Amino acid sequence: MASSKNTSAARGTSTLTILALVFAALVALFVYLDQHLDWFYVFTPEHLHDVSQRAIAAHGNDTRAVVGYIVGELDQKLGGKHLNFDEEWVFNNAGGAMGAMYIIHASITEYLIVFGTAIGTEGHTGRHTADDYFHILQGTQLAYVPGSYEPEVYPQGSVHHLHRGDVKQYKMDDSCFALEYARGWIPPMLGFGYADTFTSTLDFPTLWATTRITGREMISNLLQGKL
Ligand SMILES: *[C@@H]1O[C@H](CO)[C@@H](O)[C@H](O)[C@H]1NC(C)=O
Repeated sequence: MASSKNTSAARGTSTLTILALVFAALVALFVYLDQHLDWFYVFTPEHLHDVSQRAIAAHGNDTRAVVGYIVGELDQKLGGKHLNFDEEWVFNNAGGAMGAMYIIHASITEYLIVFGTAIGTEGHTGRHTADDYFHILQGTQLAYVPGSYEPEVYPQGSVHHLHRGDVKQYKMDDSCFALEYARGWIPPMLGFGYADTFTSTLDFPTLWATTRITGREMISNLLQGKL
């Protein structure tokens, strides 16, 4: 009896040891990947800023043409890979703000969307595990951080860089559209993107459409070896 107890205790200990080793290996892998996320990026903030400015210079407030110009140039740069050319616009409610988005790219480490609204909105940016670059294509975005008495003003052609972990209040007084680029860990951001559906809108068809498009793009990128 005693010996069989000892054996099962030993087996329990070795299972725990293996689990601890697997866990430690996963943490090490995560830390390693976290320090080398830039290996996986296919977009750069510098190019997105530059192409946004050239698109606005070429097409002004014809924002549909501005978006077409940007996606067309990215297509050439990436050789037809990693982009979604179907403008599958879906509503997005997050942090109390409402707008719509067209998902151009979604993967584990990056997303690129056109986000905006033709009638204005206001809300909380969310606190994210990724850096967020908001390239204003049309209109003006305002932002506020506690402790300041003045708004931050982001006009057409400028970039609002929200650093990983920072939070702000933001507002678009009127029609405003932006090319939003996030780089870092994208999956944890999805919770923020979905929360308002459960606490407020109960718009499950939109939730499903967002999940279907995001999942499809993330998986198709993974299958192409793009984390
Ligand atoms: C777009 O429209 C706004 C408001 O009418 C104007 O201030 C801005 O200069 C226009 N932008 C371009 C690039 O034409």
